[in-house]
Amino acid sequence: WMNSRRGEILKLFEQHVYGKTPTNLGAPKFEVTATKMDALGGLATRKFIHVSLPERPAWQGMDVMLYLPNGVKAAPCFVGLSFGGNHAVSVEKDVPLSTRWMRESKDKHIVNHKATEATRGSESSRWPLEKILKAGFAVATAYYGDIEPDHADGWKEGLRAAVSRAGVNTTWRGGEWGAIGAWAWGLSRIADFLQTESQIDARHLAVIGHSRLGKTSLWAGAQDERFGVVISNNSGEGGAALMRRDFGETTAIITKVFPHWFTSQYANYAGRAAACPIDMHMLIALAAPRPVYVASAVEDQWADPRGEYLSLWHAGSVYRLFGRVGMPSEQMPGVDMPVQTDVGYHIRSGKHDVTDYDWQQYVKFADRHLKAH
Ligand code: GCU
Repeated sequence: WMNSRRGEILKLFEQHVYGKTPTNLGAPKFEVTATKMDALGGLATRKFIHVSLPERPAWQGMDVMLYLPNGVKAAPCFVGLSFGGNHAVSVEKDVPLSTRWMRESKDKHIVNHKATEATRGSESSRWPLEKILKAGFAVATAYYGDIEPDHADGWKEGLRAAVSRAGVNTTWRGGEWGAIGAWAWGLSRIADFLQTESQIDARHLAVIGHSRLGKTSLWAGAQDERFGVVISNNSGEGGAALMRRDFGETTAIITKVFPHWFTSQYANYAGRAAACPIDMHMLIALAAPRPVYVASAVEDQWADPRGEYLSLWHAGSVYRLFGRVGMPSEQMPGVDMPVQTDVGYHIRSGKHDVTDYDWQQYVKFADRHLKAH
């Protein structure tokens, strides 16, 4: 598996779904721009790190926010991107407001695609920082829009354009990466920085993401073996959900509405998923034997909970090659009844979101798989 098949499948995912991540972008540069030892009332040390590519100066770079639990010598770390920026993840008033392009939302707190003060803490319910830090984990996060703004033309302002030699015409060429590929690349650069941070146990990183960023965490975890645990929260189509099940969102819908997320070839499977040589259980299997957690929500039928579960179930055959245990049954567990073996799954009551309940399971899973050894 490790010597031949895994590499073949990884290539198939590059070719048919996400595109190939360039490896010639040059070494990233990391500058710690601020450190606060008594963040969150003394619970944590908070750092900001600006990540740039000196050989590719057209990319404006990414600002990582890192919370380290005070009193823990070498903390395992959750790594994930946000939808709203660092100031939306944290409620702390001194976190700089992102000045980058933002998706407009119903609450009208994003004006002309720029964040306002009213968005401070708006994503904090999805990032229960205090609980995670109190459990002894660090958290490293960055805004996905720092890497590439999330709209059809976003690549023109983001990393993909900045690093492409031919500019405009390169994006939709077969085999080239989509936005998910670029975001996943960003997660790996955060992992690069964490290798240099003495208060982090860099052998113990968990990559996490919700929805489109859950698709991203699966792709990052598939490519980058430094992520010792991989977590996909409600990732749905193009993530954990099997393509071959036409339930909820389909390949036809996602490639029409969000073509920029994928490599161009993926759209050729609209309405004909069976023609694609891979399906998403193989994406999960790329992480094996590293533990993967897939989570669904009952009211998130768009993401096809059963399809998400079946991917994890079918990935079990690869875990078995390593003497590991996948899901115990093809039947899904009951609602709010998490199952944790060498992989994890739950279907939570409620809607498409990341909640404290989800994090309770992830912390337990990471405790077991990252802290024990
Ligand atoms: C849309 C999209 C999903 C995606 C979700 C999200 O609903 O259809 O594929 O996961 O947005 O990222 O919130």
